[in-house]
Amino acid sequence: MKPVADRPRAAYARPVIDSGLCDRAGRHVTLRAVDDANWRAVADIAPRDDQRDRVPALAARYLVLTMRSDVWTSLAVCADEAVVGHIMWGVDDDASRWIGGMVIDAAEQDRGVGRAAVRSLADWLAIQDGGHPVRLSYHPDNAPAARLYTSLGFAPTGAMEDDELVAELTHG
Ligand SMILES: CC(C)(COP(=O)(O)OP(=O)(O)OC[C@H]1O[C@@H](n2cnc3c(N)ncnc32)[C@H](O)[C@@H]1OP(=O)(O)O)[C@@H](O)C(=O)NCCC(=O)NCCS
Repeated sequence: MKPVADRPRAAYARPVIDSGLCDRAGRHVTLRAVDDANWRAVADIAPRDDQRDRVPALAARYLVLTMRSDVWTSLAVCADEAVVGHIMWGVDDDASRWIGGMVIDAAEQDRGVGRAAVRSLADWLAIQDGGHPVRLSYHPDNAPAARLYTSLGFAPTGAMEDDELVAELTHG
């Protein structure tokens, strides 16, 4: 996850990002603004215990981060009406779009939600304001994340951000 520049978020605000994708159970996966109705459910999103060396124990940490500045924008990952994950996006100084804060609740993993969420956000960011690069980063030891991002068209750029590989969307 890379720090990014402040940008007015109003220009990008959308209540729902919906690419029409479903998980493997046929649930409709959407990305929704964090609001008064869903913020508690987003805050409670928790990875598996063995994933806590990669991500915070609760998505609440990401919500605090995104509330503290305009750098990142948190979104609720929803499967039908259930909040099942968190994802966030931001804009860097070079106008590249970044995806971060990807975590699917432990009980909801391996159902195709993560794939649908990253695909939806990447597609949405790729069409904002003239096709700026869409990037993310992951730890080289995070095999599930590496497989997911690679299969969606993210290729390592050769750059590192802290101890994470930077990858850029190369095709849809
Ligand atoms: C990485 C993560 C977001 C994937 O979400 P998910 O909903 O479980 O993923 P999906 O079910 O959509 O699977 C998508 C792909 O991820 C990969 N994947 C998921 N679980 C995996 C596992 N246990 N082992 C290896 N690959 C795995 C596979 O490539 C899978 O491809 P498939 O759709 O062909 O099966 C989820 O495991 C998670 O929240 N992990 C903890 C937080 C984290 O590591 N975030 C990424 C930080 S960069």
